[in-house]
Amino acid sequence: MSEPQVLVEIKHLSKSYTRGDQDVPVLMDITLDIPQGDFIALMGPSGSGKSTLLNLIAGIDKPSSGLLRVAGLDIAELSESELADWRAQNVGFIFQFYNLMPVLTAFENVELPLMLTDLSRSERKERVQLALGLVGLSDRMTHYPNELSGGQQQRVAIARAIITDPTLIVADEPTGDLDKKSAEDVLNLLRKLNDEMGKTIIMVTHDPGAVKAAKHVTHLEKGELIEKTKVMRDA
Ligand SMILES: Nc1ncnc2c1ncn2[C@@H]1O[C@H](COP(=O)(O)OP(=O)(O)OP(=O)(O)O)[C@@H](O)[C@H]1O
Ligand SMILES: [Mg+2]
Repeated sequence: MSEPQVLVEIKHLSKSYTRGDQDVPVLMDITLDIPQGDFIALMGPSGSGKSTLLNLIAGIDKPSSGLLRVAGLDIAELSESELADWRAQNVGFIFQFYNLMPVLTAFENVELPLMLTDLSRSERKERVQLALGLVGLSDRMTHYPNELSGGQQQRVAIARAIITDPTLIVADEPTGDLDKKSAEDVLNLLRKLNDEMGKTIIMVTHDPGAVKAAKHVTHLEKGELIEKTKVMRDA
């Protein structure tokens, strides 16, 4: 069998923030390849740089030095507006606190990323219904976020993350605010996206239960990768 293609290629990547005249190093010399179709969990203590690394890979932030390619594209070289377009087309985001728009229904929240595409209204409707069906919320489409449980809100967020059929899904502590049962539902969904739809997923988590859903786990400590991709389940 041939090796899967590398989707995310990271070489000697560093990130520091400048505060006043001080340089605050946050990530040091990270080298990591993430193959297409992987489901990787990123663990490490608070402040170790997990969200920073995830945000770099997702094109929310830019590295200070080093190489960062996604699907062969040097995303660190893009301008802010090119990067925004690239994100909209290639990355699905899932956050700890769901980040749904409170004034929009579940349907409208999931439809939002499609407003930037040239799909017609009826094409959008079809896709949104399909995505909400996939996460088991066909009967909650007209509900507002405050009329949904935390687990349901996170499933709406997952539907929103996959609606544009992105190359990459990034999740920052997706089960961090959920009870055990809802967390399991969310993890089963992520597994399904990975197994059945071939989505590449990078998930930051503190939750040992969540790690079990992943194919690989990697640990960060004080901005350094200390353990590279231990296999969790059949890759
Ligand atoms: N905009 C910024 N300016 C300066 N320092 C920052 C900035 N953003 C993050 N940091 C610093 O970078 C370090 C890593 O932050 P990051 O959010 O990546 O940690 P984390 O591993 O995700 O932690 P947690 O588990 O608590 O979410 C922290 O020490 C933080 O203070
Ligand atoms: Mg974080």
